[in-house]
Amino acid sequence: MKIAIFDSGFGGLTVFGAIRRLLPSYDYVYLGDNARTPYGHRSFEVVYRFTAQAVRYLLAGDCALIVIACNTASAKALRSIQQTLLPTLAPTRRVLGIIRPSVEALARDHDARTVALWGTAGTVQSESYAIELAKLAPKMRLVQMACPLLVPLVESGELSGAGLDYFLQKYWAQTVAEDPTVDSLLLACTHYPLLLPRIRAVVPEEVEILSQGAIVAPSLADYLLRHPEIEGRLSRGGQTTFLTTDHSEDFDRLAELFLGHPVESAKIDLAES
Ligand code: DGL
Repeated sequence: MKIAIFDSGFGGLTVFGAIRRLLPSYDYVYLGDNARTPYGHRSFEVVYRFTAQAVRYLLAGDCALIVIACNTASAKALRSIQQTLLPTLAPTRRVLGIIRPSVEALARDHDARTVALWGTAGTVQSESYAIELAKLAPKMRLVQMACPLLVPLVESGELSGAGLDYFLQKYWAQTVAEDPTVDSLLLACTHYPLLLPRIRAVVPEEVEILSQGAIVAPSLADYLLRHPEIEGRLSRGGQTTFLTTDHSEDFDRLAELFLGHPVESAKIDLAES
């Protein structure tokens, strides 16, 4: 059986790349719902419906473990999927999100006192990070900033240029206007690490920038060590199947840019799932 990585589009490739580098021997399925991205501005009901369709599709295949590598979907759909969908559909399989491991890593591995979080409007409005941080690191201050234009720029392959820099400068200025003591910036949207060189150029160098691939990959490795009942079911052929809900040629072109090797995806339809 395989490990599945799901995202609303290309962003999860940043998490997938980090996972595959750390755990290269497993077999993976990457599913991007490119036809319906972005999820960031959509309601709870819609994000849940789209994410549940993806999870059902992956469970109907041979995926023992699904990582929802999308903050918006983790914030708005994960809990219902874990509590309602999974127990009835596939009680021996697992669906994990990306928010809890990110907050655990912040609380455990970083000296952050004031963390700025950049994410989609959906992630920010859900307050999921604030709720988890209040439990695990109650002294940490959190400044949340929705950056709604960054995902469409990434999905269009606009990874540099004056237009992108304009919005990065604007979002950073808004962030420090809210709290000038920010010492760390969590990229709480899986698309944003694709913009890392430009974000690093805009954000002062004393501010630590945290990407979720580097957090989620070791967290998944640790999970597999602690869960032999899941790990023991995983095949080890080192293969990845790429699936997209939109044009596979477009997916292959951008995925190759992000992953650095040729990609051949298949187009699927989730609406029936
Ligand atoms: N990459 C996703 C996230 O981490 C969301 C992008 C979107 O679909 O808006 O939140």
